[in-house]
Amino acid sequence: MHTFKSVKIIDDGKSIILQRADGKALRYHSTWLRDNALDPKTRDTKNGQRLITLSDIPIDTSIKSAILDSKGENISLTFFPELKKVSFSTNWLQMYAYDLEKKFLKGWVSTDFKIWKSDMAKNIPNIDYKNAKSDNTLLLKWMKSLYKYGFAKIRGGNKESGAIIQIANLIGYIRETNYGKFFEVRTEINAVNLAYTNLGLQAHTDNPYRDPTPTIQILYCIENSASGGDSKVVDGFKAAILLKEENPEYFDLLSRYCARFEYNEDGKTHLQSRRPMIELSPDGEIIAIRFNNRSAAPITDVPYNDMENYYKAYRKFSEIINNPSMAINFKLKPGEGFVTDNTRVLHARTAYSGEGTRWLQGCYVDKDGLLSKIHTISEK
Ligand code: FE2
Repeated sequence: MHTFKSVKIIDDGKSIILQRADGKALRYHSTWLRDNALDPKTRDTKNGQRLITLSDIPIDTSIKSAILDSKGENISLTFFPELKKVSFSTNWLQMYAYDLEKKFLKGWVSTDFKIWKSDMAKNIPNIDYKNAKSDNTLLLKWMKSLYKYGFAKIRGGNKESGAIIQIANLIGYIRETNYGKFFEVRTEINAVNLAYTNLGLQAHTDNPYRDPTPTIQILYCIENSASGGDSKVVDGFKAAILLKEENPEYFDLLSRYCARFEYNEDGKTHLQSRRPMIELSPDGEIIAIRFNNRSAAPITDVPYNDMENYYKAYRKFSEIINNPSMAINFKLKPGEGFVTDNTRVLHARTAYSGEGTRWLQGCYVDKDGLLSKIHTISEK
């Protein structure tokens, strides 16, 4: 953190400007400062939640006085017309600075994430189930990698039905769906989903027809003696960046227009969604990928004049995703599983056949649980 030299009131008290020792300056608005006051009447001292609403703050709130202490560590403010006194540490103000030059170019990836291609195969985060259970430091390291790369493996689990729940409980809370708390991925007669056959499956994100889409997916192996049935994962954010580099117009089409996804199981379950294949935040960050040929519904939100190019963009995106240089390939052994951030990383499997059996189970977990666990273990 930088030290501060001075504070000055500007724009008739509508803002303050803090002068940093390194020459940079940061501005803060009076309403922003008043709304984020850290005193016990504004913020609950136990849970930190805000006790006031915006209507409790006068519309003409301004700063009457601003004093920086001699060490440059704290700023005392008096707000007009309330005559309320609040102090902020300069560290806190720097942590939440917003007067920064940011370039909001369309299609950026957060620095929290590290995007990858097949060369990541050499250092896939992997943990032994027993270590994950008994050693919080190892678990934390593994969960942080899972968040950063959107993918991680686990080994040494129990080779029995339902063991996947134990894996899920390591990182968060199960999200139950119409497929149950967890689902069977093995060949079934009259399968309700192509995943429950021996067909190969193109790289996809799971269940884009849900709203919201499941955020973490776990696939866990109980038996795998059939020939084939290898797994594959691809970083969808990397694929989106490559699409943008190759053809910005294609990237724009897939992020600007909604695709549609649907799953309809004999009147028992009927799920539909309308979301783009590449989802951006309002300031252009890539926040989610939805890609699933099996559950793509007719696209009706692309105007006639753009549809031809939209399909070209869709095809190009698919080619990038299916390029062998993008994929990490592996075959799960009994007691092994892998976890993906399903809003980002796609998974695939090759067809399988032969004498043996292939029995996997899958489930979904909410990503907020993973993040909460990362924060709480880190804070300890
Ligand atoms: Fe899947």
